[in-house]
Amino acid sequence: MTNHLAAIIRSDGIILGESLASQHAIHEEFGGVVPGLAKTAHEENIDKVIQSALQNANMSIEDVDAIGVTVGPGLEICLRVGCYKGRELAMKYDKPFVGVHHLEAHILMARLPPEKHDESITKQLTGDGIQSSYRAMEFPFLALLVSGGHCQILKCLGIGKYTIVGGTLDDSLGEAFDKTARLLGLPVGGGGGPAIEALAKDGDPKSVTLPIPMQQRKDCDFSYAGLKTSVRLAAERICAERGVERPDELPHQDKANIAASFQHIAFRHVEIRLGRAMELVQREDGIRTLAVVGGVAANKELRRRLNALCSDRDTPWEMSVPPPRLCTDQGAMSAWAAVERLMVGSSDSAEDQEVFARYP
Ligand code: KG4
Ligand code: ZN
Repeated sequence: MTNHLAAIIRSDGIILGESLASQHAIHEEFGGVVPGLAKTAHEENIDKVIQSALQNANMSIEDVDAIGVTVGPGLEICLRVGCYKGRELAMKYDKPFVGVHHLEAHILMARLPPEKHDESITKQLTGDGIQSSYRAMEFPFLALLVSGGHCQILKCLGIGKYTIVGGTLDDSLGEAFDKTARLLGLPVGGGGGPAIEALAKDGDPKSVTLPIPMQQRKDCDFSYAGLKTSVRLAAERICAERGVERPDELPHQDKANIAASFQHIAFRHVEIRLGRAMELVQREDGIRTLAVVGGVAANKELRRRLNALCSDRDTPWEMSVPPPRLCTDQGAMSAWAAVERLMVGSSDSAEDQEVFARYP
């Protein structure tokens, strides 16, 4: 919600133009998202972002066939800026309009035809070594959605048809990464996940003992609040041993060990809950395909481990995970979700579209 994103996408999945304006610098100064500032910045930037995406695509607004805009969940005042602009353009230029659900947009990235990605995306795909398992998912499939705001396992049956198999009782996985990054004094602009992932490479994942969350509960739900506290307590213990006051003052190796141990247990929790969900839907629905989506799906260690989770089963599963840059928020996901909705003949009325802070 602190970015302004726009993209022009073709119905065969080719991304024609994209643009992004970040507000991280503004919010960093104030130590968090300031709703009033976010709204003003959105209003100032929205036209620029749309224009620049059109320019990249070498198009004008008259050339596009439809307009999609995220209408929830998220910060209401920011959503409203985008929604009103989308409504205004759709009515002025008489275009079909789609109000996009942000979580559905994350999930539908797993259905973007991979061979259509531009060259830069293909390079990233080859970079993480599991490109062979990436293909556009067909319904039904199971999805693990791990972002800053959400942590869910969903049975995906069709456009607009999802059943929640598991959710989080408190924090999301992305939030846990962000809080650990903050604890260790790492840069968190745009999320602390990438900083933790990089630091964890230098650390020993078995060096700091942390409990796996919810061992007694044999369901598919998540909980990351307890792990956050365990990480803080472990960091404070190490601080006392080293004679430093705060975790961000610890030597590099200690921080790397904390990051690696946190990441290891955070992903162990995913493997256990997801493994259980996979068993369940395979037995009940015969599903054997998994999409991993949302910002945290950009994490290479998570991609590697879930790839192994899928291939090591008695009956192997197929896994699809979008290229890293399409896991985190970007404009193409909203545009693609709108394409998917339009392809099944579903759209919304631009005049009446509202925004939803919470959007089940
Ligand atoms: O999907 P997203 O861009 O925005 C939301 O809809 O929330 O997800 C952002 C979240 C942040 O918590 C960020 O720290 C996390 O995704 N993230 C990562 C990585 N890249 C982004 N977490 C772990 N490893 C990464 N490489
Ligand atoms: Zn998101």
